[in-house]
Amino acid sequence: MNFQLTEEQLAVRDAAREFAQIELLPGVIERDTEGKFAKEQIKKMGQLGFLGMMVDPKYNGGGMDTLSYVLAMEELSKIDASASVAMSVNNSLVCWGLEKYGTEAQKEKYLKPLAAGEILGAFCLSEPEAGSDATSQKTEAHFNGDYYILNGTKNWITNGSSASVYLIIAQTDPIKAHKGISVFIIEKGWEGFIIGKKEDKMGIRGSDTHSLMFTDVKIPVENRIGEEGFGFTFAMETLNGGRIGIAAQALGIAAGAYELSLAYSKERKTFGKPISQHQAIQFKLADMVTQIEAARLMVYKAAWLKDNGEDYAHASAMAKLFASQVAMDVTIEAVQVHGGYGYVKEYHVERLMRDAKITQIYEGTSEIQKIVISRKILK
Ligand code: CAA
Repeated sequence: MNFQLTEEQLAVRDAAREFAQIELLPGVIERDTEGKFAKEQIKKMGQLGFLGMMVDPKYNGGGMDTLSYVLAMEELSKIDASASVAMSVNNSLVCWGLEKYGTEAQKEKYLKPLAAGEILGAFCLSEPEAGSDATSQKTEAHFNGDYYILNGTKNWITNGSSASVYLIIAQTDPIKAHKGISVFIIEKGWEGFIIGKKEDKMGIRGSDTHSLMFTDVKIPVENRIGEEGFGFTFAMETLNGGRIGIAAQALGIAAGAYELSLAYSKERKTFGKPISQHQAIQFKLADMVTQIEAARLMVYKAAWLKDNGEDYAHASAMAKLFASQVAMDVTIEAVQVHGGYGYVKEYHVERLMRDAKITQIYEGTSEIQKIVISRKILK
């Protein structure tokens, strides 16, 4: 067992850390307050290769391993989880599926600019009545002999108004239930495609989350990914990898809150000494760092399994389940360590606490992860 990161992985981690400090930290409070998308910063992330990290260089990607992606996600999430979710969706939900299952023409047209970070992608599975129960898709795409005609609504779509390319999961044969679900690529601006309201969220407020509406949107056949009926498997397989990214995000949120708490505890004095000298705070810090280390090992292992061609669905579900709980627990304690200062925006930890909550919800709630895990162990 080798716990040593390679030179390349360390370089990626350091580059992400530096980018987060220089580019994301200034303005992160303002973006959270105003619900503003980090458009310029995400453009720079694209230029630096953070948006297509694992894609083959022949499609403009970085050709890196999943562990490098996890390291970058962790560092960026310490500072700005709104920016890191845009990155996560582009890398693991959009580029990954396109590279694995797209045709050469689809890769040429869509994957190349997505991996280069010239445009952003969105992954559209959730609906008003199909969140956890993802097989209950109501969005339909009917083939009329020339085109698929898409009708329906998608909810809570990350990069909803900022994306240029959208992967849409839709029912093409309702009688076949989940085996009649397909997946399509559509573009912003196509007739009948309306970007709906922006969500006013508790956390990741700088993330661009919208509903999307489709009325008789014409989709060319060549924009279907895989065969008809492949869409649900596509979504599930994509999410298996996506959950590693969200687990890394949760890990980063927790680690960011811990680092702030450690530094603060050495500065803040009560009863004549730094609060780090009080056992009440020392025990909190010890619990935080231990939980984070355990989460880190699980997230890195899930990435390692994926990089080594092993089955990682189970490990990614466990990593997300555990890391998201750690993110919640650690950020709550971080606010407590900061006391009154922790309750105001300036000290960052209240934002990290709000941001942590979504990691227990999106890309499969914690309850869904437990379904995935228990089905595997009971098989
Ligand atoms: N990997 C691969 N295949 C899987 C799978 C997995 N993790 N989970 C299920 N499948 C397959 C099953 O093997 C089955 O295939 P067959 O019919 O060929 O045997 C098929 O999918 C249907 O599975 P089930 O019978 O288990 O279906 P179910 O309805 O009982 O449960 C579920 C499925 C696991 C609960 C699924 O609906 C699920 O994962 N729900 C959560 C959806 C989710 O994560 N949404 C996140 C939205 S995206 C998002 O948040 C992105 C963002 O913007 C940040």
